Parts: sequence; structure tokens; C-alpha cells
Amino acid sequence: MATATLDSLLATYAELPAHELDERIAQAKRDIGSRVVILGHHYQRDEVVKFADYRGDSLRLSQLAAGRPEAEYIVFCGVHFMAESADVLSGDHQAVILPDLNAGCSMADMANLEQVEVCWDVLAKVNSSKIVPVTYINSTAAIKAFVGKNGGAVCTSSNARKIMEWALARGEKALFLPDEHLGRNTGYGLGIPLDRMAIWNPAEENGGLTDREIAAARIYLWKGHCSVHQRFRPEHVESARMSHPGIRVIAHPECSWEVCQAADEVGSTEYIIKRVVEAPAGSAWAVGTEIHMIRRLAQEHPDRLVVSLDDCVCMCSTMFRISPQHLCWTLESLRSGQVVNRVSVVPETKRWALVALNRMLEIR
Ligand code: 13P
Ligand code: SF4
Repeated sequence: MATATLDSLLATYAELPAHELDERIAQAKRDIGSRVVILGHHYQRDEVVKFADYRGDSLRLSQLAAGRPEAEYIVFCGVHFMAESADVLSGDHQAVILPDLNAGCSMADMANLEQVEVCWDVLAKVNSSKIVPVTYINSTAAIKAFVGKNGGAVCTSSNARKIMEWALARGEKALFLPDEHLGRNTGYGLGIPLDRMAIWNPAEENGGLTDREIAAARIYLWKGHCSVHQRFRPEHVESARMSHPGIRVIAHPECSWEVCQAADEVGSTEYIIKRVVEAPAGSAWAVGTEIHMIRRLAQEHPDRLVVSLDDCVCMCSTMFRISPQHLCWTLESLRSGQVVNRVSVVPETKRWALVALNRMLEIR
């Protein structure tokens, strides 16, 4: 469908009052029945996530998709790389749909295949030691496939330590992409000194490194970041402690090394949720992650203080692109037999991306 047509269609949905939109989404979902499963990432807005059959982190949602073979349609309320992972892990008879195809992830877009191939060639020329590539799940299917083909694995923020340990046991060195912060935080946690982790900047010749620096490094960190998590600063940790004495600071490992060092705890979205949910009433938490998840945690646990580490709203604008209007349009189209916004990974890429994802799932 041409964008202009889609835009005008969505404009008609935009005119609907919220309660009518809710009723139409619920009705379309009922009409399609068990042929559709709706997945909602923790960072989605309330008006969308309330229709999700499952709420979770990117990995859990992809696994859930794979575990629902009866669902012909998997509507992924998240971002593009998550829909791709779901497509790789689900069956050929299933269609994965992203309600707004513009919902990308700026971090995943920071590493493209050509750049990674250049990096790999340079590293191979300078090193005689074996390098194992590890890619964060926040990467395109093409990067996952590259990693799968070259003996590496995918990781998530929950299992990055375990996967990095595996990579460093398998080879002498690791290339971690595309998030320099998750890579650095993980490497440091494994006892690798900061000066043995070199940043590979794809915008510079030789990654901005001398041959001597390349030879000395144990981990190569791709210069990529999450613009949401990179906004948190160590000063925010200090001021949270001043404003709320006794507060526990918990940060996502996509935050900088300095923030993670200053925090009391560091963990993935699932870990953060678990910690707050299991904490006693009266406890106080300053959380360094996306604002919709923090606000929902606060609403669902009014007997605990749950605040953002930074007062200024740290929102993932691409996650926010999935609106109730897009969800309504997607479901009503599916009901009428039209599959819109399908995310489909080409077979060769799918094959190797699956190798990298399966390696992650098999590493214990
Ligand atoms: P999860 O892997 O915890 O879902 O996080 C994804 C993400 O994009 C964090 O910024
Ligand atoms: Fe990507 Fe950051 Fe948004 Fe997560 S929060 S989807 S890493 S841009």
C-alpha cells in the first residue's frame, strides 16, 4: 500500500475517540481469535500494551512467538529487530507483523553488514589469534547472520555475561556489537581491564585504531549506543541519592560504564521488573531505563516509590511509534484477509541468523 494511502487511512483512525478505538481493536482481536497473537514489549505505551497477549523483553517475546504455532499472525508491538527475530524463530506458516514499519531501533541501525565485514577483515589481518563475534539481539538479522556464519552467537542484556564468557573461552578475543556500553559493562564484569577493550569506530579508517592498539585489545567494542540509555549520567545517580536517601539505583546495562559503576544494581528489563516486584512495600527505586516501563512499574506498585533516574523523560521514540491507531488498522486489515506490514527475513539470512540465535539458546 502506498504511504500516502496509509497516511490518509491512519488519519481516519486518528479521528476516532479513544474508547471507540479500544472497542474496535478488541472486536477485531476477538474476530480473528486464536489465529493472532499480540506481543507487547515492556517499553510500549499503555494504550497499546493492554491488548498484548504477552508482555516481555525482546527475547521472551520471540520465544513465545515460536511457542504459538497455531497463530497464523504474530503482531509484534515493539521495534523492527524484534519482529525480525520473531520471524527467524517462528514457523514458515506464520506471518510476523510490525504495526508501524518505521518503528526501528537507532542502535541496531548503527552497524550495517558492509561496515562489519570491513571491520572483520581488518581485525583478521592484524590478529593471528581467534576472534569470536557476539551481537546483541538489538541488531539487524543481517548482522546476526554474519555472526552465525563466523562462529559467534547472539546475546541479550540478560545473558551477555554468559555469552561473552563462552566467546572468550572459544577464542582469545571477542568482537562485541553494536552497543559499546553493554560490551564494556559485560567485559569489565568479567575482569577485563578498560584499556584492553578497544572501540571500533566504523566511521574511521581502521576503526580509528592503530595496528598496535588492535593487537593489544582483548575485546573490540563497536561504537554504537542507545540514545535513550546514554542520556543517564552519573550526576543523576548522585542527585537521586540526595533527593531520596536510601533509594536503590538500578540501571540497564545499555547505560554508560560510569552510570553502571555508580548504580547499586545493573540488569535487563526483566531483571529490573523482578527486583521491583519482589521488593518490600515502602522500598524506593531510581531506575535508569525507558520511561513507559518505569511509569507502569510505579502505577502497578503504588506502595513502592519508583522514579526515573533522570527527571527529564527518557522515552524511546521509535517504540512510541506503535500507536493504537496502527494496531487497530493492522487488526482490521488482518480480519479482512489483508496481511499488512509483514516483516520477512530472506531465507539465507534467516538460516544463519537462526544459527546465532540457537547458539545463544544452547549456551548454558
Ligand atoms: P530487552 O532485551 O530487555 O527487551 O531490551 C531491549 C531494548 O531495546 C533495551 O533498550
Ligand atoms: Fe533501541 Fe534504545 Fe529504543 Fe531499546 S530503547 S529499542 S536500544 S533505541
